[in-house]
Amino acid sequence: MIIRMFGLFETGVFMKLSFLVFLLCVLISVKNQTAETKKGSSTGKWSSSVSSPILLKSFQSRRIFLSTKNEKVEDSSPRALEYNFYRDSCPQAEEIIRTMIRQMYKVRPNVVPALLRLVFHDCFVEGCDASVLLDATDEIDSEKEAPPNETLKGFDVIDIIKSELEEACPRLVSCADILVLAAREAVVQAGGPFYPLYTGRRDSAFSFGEAATYELPSPHEDLSKTIASFASRGFDERETVSLLGAHSVGVIHCKFFQNRLYNFGGTYEPDPSLDIEFLNLLRSKCNNSHTSPEESQMEMNYEGTGSSFGTLYFRSLLLGRGILYADQQLMAGEGTGIWVRAYASDAFLFRRDFAQVMMKLSNLRVLTAPMGQVRRNCSKVA
Ligand code: HEM
Ligand SMILES: *[C@@H]1O[C@H](CO)[C@@H](O)[C@H](O)[C@H]1NC(C)=O
Ligand SMILES: *[C@@H]1O[C@H](CO)[C@@H](O)[C@H](O)[C@H]1NC(C)=O
Ligand SMILES: *[C@@H]1O[C@H](CO)[C@@H](O)[C@H](O)[C@H]1NC(C)=O
Repeated sequence: MIIRMFGLFETGVFMKLSFLVFLLCVLISVKNQTAETKKGSSTGKWSSSVSSPILLKSFQSRRIFLSTKNEKVEDSSPRALEYNFYRDSCPQAEEIIRTMIRQMYKVRPNVVPALLRLVFHDCFVEGCDASVLLDATDEIDSEKEAPPNETLKGFDVIDIIKSELEEACPRLVSCADILVLAAREAVVQAGGPFYPLYTGRRDSAFSFGEAATYELPSPHEDLSKTIASFASRGFDERETVSLLGAHSVGVIHCKFFQNRLYNFGGTYEPDPSLDIEFLNLLRSKCNNSHTSPEESQMEMNYEGTGSSFGTLYFRSLLLGRGILYADQQLMAGEGTGIWVRAYASDAFLFRRDFAQVMMKLSNLRVLTAPMGQVRRNCSKVA
């Protein structure tokens, strides 16, 4: 049923049906959320057991904050996200975000990859709570300053949208909501699917620099590690493959795949999973006199804008042309390889799965009232 309706989005004619679809989604996820709430604590939202000491530490710090600074927390359970949370308080919020992203995209198409990567880095580390946006201070161990953050972009885009929203409805729209909504509009601008989103997220008072360092998946990781990393956030193999379809847009700096080009794992040979022609292309991109080694990079969409969102990425993997080792590794397992092949040949299937997995990503361990806060400035705690 949902599958069919996503088909209708695709045509753009039946956008109003989004509300219907949304009701369906709400029904499904309300069921899930009730199950989660029953576990009795806001820290139990990840289905898997929490084993990392780093995670435990940050969970604890969050709990301490809540019980010392907000007495009410103990007895009032957090609200669920809602469809169109700002319908009364700031009805124009989503439209403002949509319009601004459209305008920015015209002059700066790289807002799309910037926001898409930013939402991943926010939601994957301690949930979608805008913690990635906080600047470092004496109290804030900023995720921005963690090594995987390198080359993260799009902070200014969020700031610009936030100041517009502060003018329209001061202190109402959270940075966490702005980030997921802006990323959604960015995906649509890039020719990706539209997906409905709940709102009502709140912003955290913490950033998790240490967690960001250890919790974000590495580009050099084997398939099993990548799968484990996504599984710990509740994504199965199919969802992991579809989520990585985000690597259809943007750029990858050479330093993230340089190790594959000449001396892979101390063999003095390139990564054998790399297609030879593609290897030469990567080498020429990364080793030329015009660009400094720091700056040199490879476009994900290296064949130009002709190919539709997602398709080139999966076809490339079939040909041994994944840019990152972790990308190419998706072909190393049967359970993931099946989905790479499926998405390479069925763009529609990919768009539907990608829409659903982006909804899931955008809802990871959110903070809702009475927890968290609505920042006035996305870079600092209110
Ligand atoms: C195994 C998982 C992943 C790894 C190891 C990984 C790693 C990377 C790396 C190393 C880059 C290059 C950054 C640069 O050179 O500036 C990159 C770029 C990017 N990643 Fe991922 N990523 C992963 C999953 C994801 C997911 C799930 C998403 C979104 C849903 C995503 C979205 C992006 C985007 C859009 C870019 C391009 C950024 C830009 O051009 O500004 N990635 N990723
Ligand atoms: C990311 O962290 C590095 C230090 O690891 C820092 O130099 C850089 O400014 C940070 N990037 C952003 C966008 O804050
Ligand atoms: C540049 O190319 C030469 C030979 O073609 C190679 O030996 C060298 O390692 C390359 N440098 C980088 C930074 O890739
Ligand atoms: C938000 O806070 C940061 C860090 O304190 C500051 O640099 C920036 O100018 C502020 N932005 C606005 C719009 O006030």
